[in-house]
Amino acid sequence: MNDLLPEQSGLWQQVEARLRDTLQGYGYQEIRTPIVEKTELFARSIGQATDIVEKEMYTFEDRNGDSLTLRPEGTAACVRAGIERGLLHNQMQRFWYAGPMFRHERPQKGRYRQFHQVGVEAFGMPGPDIDAELILMSARLWQRLELRGLTLELNSLGSSQARAVHRVALVEYLNQHRDQLDTDSLDRLQRNPLRVLDSKNPDVQQVVSHAPRLLDFLDTESLAHFERLQAYLKDAGLDFEINTSLVRGLDYYSRTVFEWKTDKLGAQSAVCAGGRFDGLVERLGGKAMPAAGFAIGLERLLELVSLEGIISRPAQTDVYMVLLNETAEAWGMKIAERLRNEDIAVLCHCGGGSMKSQMKKADKSGSQLALIIGEDECAKRVVGVKQLRHDAAQEFVAEPNIIEAVQQHLAAARQG
Ligand code: HAM
Repeated sequence: MNDLLPEQSGLWQQVEARLRDTLQGYGYQEIRTPIVEKTELFARSIGQATDIVEKEMYTFEDRNGDSLTLRPEGTAACVRAGIERGLLHNQMQRFWYAGPMFRHERPQKGRYRQFHQVGVEAFGMPGPDIDAELILMSARLWQRLELRGLTLELNSLGSSQARAVHRVALVEYLNQHRDQLDTDSLDRLQRNPLRVLDSKNPDVQQVVSHAPRLLDFLDTESLAHFERLQAYLKDAGLDFEINTSLVRGLDYYSRTVFEWKTDKLGAQSAVCAGGRFDGLVERLGGKAMPAAGFAIGLERLLELVSLEGIISRPAQTDVYMVLLNETAEAWGMKIAERLRNEDIAVLCHCGGGSMKSQMKKADKSGSQLALIIGEDECAKRVVGVKQLRHDAAQEFVAEPNIIEAVQQHLAAARQG
């Protein structure tokens, strides 16, 4: 679990703002649900025989003896809230959410026990048009963050009937190759055979590469859905690969599943993942209704954004007030408030100190300008204005002109 330090939070805020603006630009509205839910919610939605539910949840009893769990993901809670609050019945909804999720996984680069997701869920739309919207929207997010090199993998898991028929064929095939499976895969074969396809063990992957493909068992409706989705994406000029082993680690999916991957982060390559979960609303007690969504892992996304280095950390303030004695402090504070009235971000030096040490701090603050007030300036009712980002002689500006002078300098700086 990481601390997010001030030196990183500026970049996080910028990325979060761009994500939020883009999602809202597609008509998605924010939903905030609690961080804890009843354990049963996750067991019923994500699935008993998944890694998350079997071994990764932070589960505890509260004082009433109810079993609660820190949410490992956001989809289940969106569905629960939608059903409980009557938001889903006969309606189409587009939600987005953001926040911390918790999984007791083995930590490594890009994999943490508390991590953050921005996710979206769309309810009430059965066709591949919404699948395409979700995927195109995610592609636009990468564009807005100026990220290149993410690849899109797609698969279809078909209907539950199609999966049942495929399961029989898969189990038969895997049983014939038991000697080549590791203990984890043998266990998965027993409990949740489709998950063997997701093994990271190269020997198992070799076996899996010849296994019966779910895609060959798809029911005609799912196949038509999948083909139309592909046509939409091609029409929009979006590249993708079909990955027949893409099965996802949560059991609620049906038909479309997808992942955006990168080769820049090592083993933890999925930056964004999602798909359709048409059966989940009904399974959690609502009236049957189609749904689809995805979630982005923010730690991984931020790592990529930092690697590309395109979005720079925003300056925290525009102006740093260098105040060299008590009179200057009193006057400087008033000037700072007047600047703030004009929406200028001002950091006032507190605690005294030499000109040199204050100027060092001014430079570090990222501000464009230092306003310097010492004894002389107080006497003459002027302030020294010093550019911090390029060389220029210090000017002196009389009190009535300070705001205008600062605004002009900041506007010039913005234009570069
Ligand atoms: P997920 O694939 O479990 O899907 O997680 C989505 C993304 O969260 C992953 O692709 C990854 O970027 C990030 N992530 C997952 N676990 C960790 C971790 N331990 N540390 C850092 N990042 C992690 C879901 O959670 C689904 N609820 C997505 C969804 C929404 N499907 C439909 N709607």
